[in-house]
Amino acid sequence: AKYTIVDKETCIACGACGITAPEVFDYDENGLSFVTLDNNQGTVEIPDDLYYEVEDASYGCPTDSIKIADEPFNRTPVKAG
Ligand code: F3S
Repeated sequence: AKYTIVDKETCIACGACGITAPEVFDYDENGLSFVTLDNNQGTVEIPDDLYYEVEDASYGCPTDSIKIADEPFNRTPVKAG
């Protein structure tokens, strides 16, 4: 299983991730990205059919704010991967 979360401390609202993976990332009122699967808690498994989009979005983020890990983040984007 894979989980994802946006580090909103480092997101600069560039807007790339929502284009790359529109079913997973959306933006809050400040333009900062969040994971729609679980309101950016990092606790809901990424559906298999969306995983590659999420991976692309993570690689494409200019500030490396999209974290991916094998275990749930439980609200804190501290894990790399
Ligand atoms: Fe933010 Fe990176 Fe997306 S800067 S808007 S998380 S591509």
